[in-house]
Amino acid sequence: MKLKYFSHSAFQITTNSGKIILIDPFLSGSPNSPAKPEDVDADFIVLTHAHGDHLGDAFSIADRCNPLFICVDELAKYCKSKGYNAHNMHIGGGYNFEFGRLKFTIAHHGSMTPDNIYAGEPAGVIISADGKNIYHTGDTGLFYDMKLIGEMTKIDYMLLCIGDNFTMGITDAVKAVELTNPKVAIPMHYNTFPVIEADPNEFKQKVEAKGFNCRVMNYGEEIDL
Ligand code: NI
Ligand code: MN
Repeated sequence: MKLKYFSHSAFQITTNSGKIILIDPFLSGSPNSPAKPEDVDADFIVLTHAHGDHLGDAFSIADRCNPLFICVDELAKYCKSKGYNAHNMHIGGGYNFEFGRLKFTIAHHGSMTPDNIYAGEPAGVIISADGKNIYHTGDTGLFYDMKLIGEMTKIDYMLLCIGDNFTMGITDAVKAVELTNPKVAIPMHYNTFPVIEADPNEFKQKVEAKGFNCRVMNYGEEIDL
């Protein structure tokens, strides 16, 4: 399985069977993304919530690739209202897809579409495929139930926001890693806009000082999991 980071909260998972899963594909609007919407393919698009920096280029990619959207019920209905295929889920629920299992978790944040439609609760997501568990926190503040998430599922890769202002900043994100106990922490949602400037290497140092592993992914980098 491969994990690619575009920038912000946008990732691509490619399973060993070749299924491509995009998470929060905000590409054209990110000054840091080396990839443009027309560069990517998708079998599945997972949206953690409806904010423009997460919904991103999902629809223009979907126009070309005809993926299945996977999101919480209200956001799935929004995608369907725009003519796309979507699988409705909700927080706490998991489902076995072709690529593996996907489960939504809580996230403390908001969720409104760019055209001002309420899109249900924001979420984090755990994707389990090829024997690995990847937890993408979505946009969220720190919450103590991350401890429960880590106890229920051994997280291999935790993709978590560190940019502050809208989400956890570095101090809270370090605590999030301690609570969740992943094998590797990967920072996201930083340095896209001036208001979320944060130093990922400061986060890495602080995480490693607590005895955890951290991988700062470069924009456009793809790693084997
Ligand atoms: Ni957001
Ligand atoms: Mn965001």
